[in-house]
This record gives sequence, C-alpha cells and structure tokens, in this order.
Amino acid sequence: MEEQRKQVIFSAIQPSGTITLGNYLGALKNWVALQDEYDCIFSLADLHTITVRQDPAKFRKNALEAYALLLACGIDPQKSIFFIQSHVSAHAELAWVLNCYTQFGELSRMTQFKDKSAKHADNINAGLFAYPSLMAADILLYQADLVPVGADQKQHLELTRNVAERFNAAYSPTFTVPDGYIPKQGARIMSLQDPTSKMSKSDENANGFIAMLDSPDVIMRKFKRAVTDSDACVRYAEGKDGVNNLMGIYACVTGKTMEEIEREFEGRGYGDFKTAVGEAVVEHLRPIQERFSQYIADKAYLEACYRDGAARAARIANRTLAKVMKKIGFLPG
Ligand code: TYM
Repeated sequence: MEEQRKQVIFSAIQPSGTITLGNYLGALKNWVALQDEYDCIFSLADLHTITVRQDPAKFRKNALEAYALLLACGIDPQKSIFFIQSHVSAHAELAWVLNCYTQFGELSRMTQFKDKSAKHADNINAGLFAYPSLMAADILLYQADLVPVGADQKQHLELTRNVAERFNAAYSPTFTVPDGYIPKQGARIMSLQDPTSKMSKSDENANGFIAMLDSPDVIMRKFKRAVTDSDACVRYAEGKDGVNNLMGIYACVTGKTMEEIEREFEGRGYGDFKTAVGEAVVEHLRPIQERFSQYIADKAYLEACYRDGAARAARIANRTLAKVMKKIGFLPG
C-alpha cells in the first residue's frame, strides 16, 4: 500500500538580533518536537528583517548566529529542510504576485503593522506594510498544512488563509489552505518587566526578555527582578499577570502542570519561586548554549547546511511558483 503523505509544516523566524525565550517557548520548541511526525520546512526570514533598517555587518552576523542557534535548539537538517529565505528567490517573486491579490484595507488592519509603524515613525516603508504578503508567500510556496507559531502571528495566518482561498477561487485549487498550530502553553510569553506586553527582542529594557544566549548569571538576575504582585502567593489567577507568566515559563521548561506548581510552592514566597524558575531555565538552556558554541565555530558546516537547505527548498518552491504563474496567464519564458 502506498505510504500516506505526511502533513507539511512550515514556519520561520526573523534573525533580527537576539532570539528570546519567548520565541523558543512559543515556536522553536514545537518545531523541534514536530520534526518526526511531519515533513518540516523551517526558514530564517531575513527578507522580513529589512522592513526595519539593519546595519549590514550586524545583520550578517545575526543571521549566521540565528542559524547556528536553531541547529543548537534541535532543528535537524537531516529530518527537516532548514534554509535562509533570501537564498530562495521564489519567496520575493510570489510575494509580489500575492501583493496583487491582497487588499490595502486588509493590510491596514494588521496590528503588527500599526505597532511597528508607531515604533518606527521615521521609516514606515512599503515593505513593512506588505510584510504579511511575503509571509503568505513563505507558507503557500510549500503547500503547508500547519504553521507552528506564537499567538502574535495569528492575524497574519488568517490573512494567509484568506489570500489562498481567494486565489484558489479565482483560478482553481492551487494552494493548500494552512492552519495555525499554536501551543496551549507558551503561546504568549510576556515581558518580565511589563507582564501585560509580550516578551520581545526589541524591548528597550533588556531586563524584560531572556535572550537564548544570556549567561546563567544574567538569567538568574533577570528572573529575580521580574515584576510580580503583592499577593505573595504562587497561584494561577486573573490579575496576577507577572506570576502567571513565570508559572507558564516554569511549566514549559519542566513539563509540570499549574496545579503541580501551585502545590510545589505552597507556603513559600516569590523569592524561592523566582529562583526556581531561573534555575530551571538555566538548566534547560545550558545544553543549547553548549551546542551553539560548537556550531558557530564551524562556519564551513553551517554554510554547507544552509546551501543544501536552500537547494531543497527551491525545488519545492519553484514548482508552486511555476504553477501560479501559469494559472495567472504569464507567457512562459
Ligand atoms: P518572529 O521572528 O517575531 O518570531 C518567531 C516566532 O516566535 C513567536 N514569538 C513568541 N511566542 C510566544 N511568546 C512571545 N513573547 C513570542 N514572541 C515571538 C512568534 O509567534 C513566531 O512564531 N513574521 C514572523 C516570521 C515569519 C513566519 C513566516 C512565521 C516569516 N514568515 C511564515 C510563520 C510562517 C515573525 O516575525 O516572527
């Protein structure tokens, strides 16, 4: 009997500076876990990164480090395709096409666009506005069934589905309409300094986020300074955003349930709790940091890996792109 086709997973992360514990718990940890069960394709979305101005030397360094870090997290290039977006030209090409099937009004409603344009008021460029079309192109090129992301990408995924359905209806079924895969735990890790806003690498206050490569000392210090409340009770409840967030992080790295965590810290203060969360995170990140040092020292291996990834990705992407161009009516070259 013919073996059933595995479902296809696609996801990507921007190599814009430090990758945080939020990225890891919301997305990367899942990517690693899904590799055996699915046909996985992962990308460093560097084309997305230039919507905000980048220093060339830093940008190059960040991309290579992000590639090494993802390998260190457990992305396995034998099991999955792992490539750099700008190395596969079909992404930019399909993005242009999809721009012509995406409405101004739809893009204007994107909360990330509103947030980012408020933050970078001096550089509200067309790329920032059209960013979701590029993201749709990323996903649709690979006919992905599932897209593992954190909760903040939900709106972009919804747009991707709408664009895919619109194109399929206008021509004939061309794109798989993808579903999001958002984890129950970790989908929205909050800032340690302001637990009402998400943990973000662009936070001006470095105490708000844990970078994946922060040293154990720095991690412990950031957790000890984390904002909690005056209730002094480790309990998951409405209005306890800081404690809920720390409990969520602890649950993700230890696999414990909220009830187990409440029992573990019954009658104990926040000091003990924060130390325990910090130590659990340090231990979780330790092997990743060790593997990172090995990968980043081996530039030849990294280069071979991302070149191979791009070649494999391009074969799939070009097939979809050719189909799209033909359906629209472009004269074959
Ligand atoms: P990016 O680079 O901002 O984030 C990468 C992944 O991390 C998740 N994430 C979080 N999860 C939980 N808590 C947080 N505080 C947190 N912060 C970030 C994000 O949801 C994401 O899954 N546009 C995307 C990259 C992208 C992409 C794609 C994703 C480009 N093309 C196609 C999926 C499919 C982005 O900027 O993610």
